[in-house]
Amino acid sequence: MARTVLRLSRRRAHMPCPRRCARRGRRRPTPRRTAPGGSSPLPHRTAWLSLRTSGHRGRRKGGTMTALPRRLGPGLYWLGDCIKTQHAGRTYHAYNSVYIVSGEDRSVLVETGFPADLPMLGRQIDELLASGAVAPLEYLFVTHQETPHAGGLGRFLEKFPDAVAVGGVEDLDQIFPRHAERLHLVGTSAEFDLGGRSFRITPGVIRDLITTYWGFDTLTRALFPGDGFAYSHFHEEGHCGLVAEEAATLDVPAMTALFAEFALHWTRFTDVEPYLVELDRLIADLDVTLVGPTHGLPITSLPQTLPLVKRGFRAGADA
Ligand SMILES: [Fe+2]
Ligand SMILES: [Fe+2]
Ligand SMILES: [Zn+2]
Repeated sequence: MARTVLRLSRRRAHMPCPRRCARRGRRRPTPRRTAPGGSSPLPHRTAWLSLRTSGHRGRRKGGTMTALPRRLGPGLYWLGDCIKTQHAGRTYHAYNSVYIVSGEDRSVLVETGFPADLPMLGRQIDELLASGAVAPLEYLFVTHQETPHAGGLGRFLEKFPDAVAVGGVEDLDQIFPRHAERLHLVGTSAEFDLGGRSFRITPGVIRDLITTYWGFDTLTRALFPGDGFAYSHFHEEGHCGLVAEEAATLDVPAMTALFAEFALHWTRFTDVEPYLVELDRLIADLDVTLVGPTHGLPITSLPQTLPLVKRGFRAGADA
């Protein structure tokens, strides 16, 4: 499909940017953050965040503990916090995850978070920007309009006045009327140049709402499928902040089936096989190697984990 490379940002070309300064031969501003346990400034795009993933950082009132942000690849960060839910007498954890994909010149925020997470997400984003790990945020991409995905859109449009929103933004002008001119319906042929990588909008294969779009990062070949790969995890088993392949005790098929029962209830009433065929085709066409779901743990090995997710999707449909 022919793609349209778009530049919708409101940021002026001459706005200060660490990477632009570097490219023009000027001295790069010193990042404010220092390495854990050390005093030396960290370089751009350092891996310092990945050092924090083994431990939880603290407890928030009424909530759970976070092991995020976590660096998943060059310029790709996983943000958010666990949410706690109860079902059949058992406590489950899940995520309403947000990701940042940063190029050399600009970044995209993938999903905008659940309202309860917004203060913490704002701090996580501020830390990444202040450290120089990510370029200025110019795009806010939401897969669809539901609150766990688009709930923070208004807040972040205000926090980042140069950013615009793309993706599943149909009718969001009714919720955020003062930002209506910054909501861009660009369809599935759009691609955004971030500098050294692009962010594409793709069709949503497994859709919660009919107006669902998925995203794709051309550098890490990461797919962002919104509700497409949704499954819970268990705090007591140490799954928080892990990628799916690290959570060895996580029953991905069972958790996927459970999540589908509540969040993708339509799968109970239709043949899911055509959707799985379409999913395989999209993954092959894009050569996807990483998946950043909104509710499940990120997937770093599709050969290992995709069959488990598909088995769970089928089990949910058969239940
Ligand atoms: Fe949804
Ligand atoms: Fe969702
Ligand atoms: Zn958790």
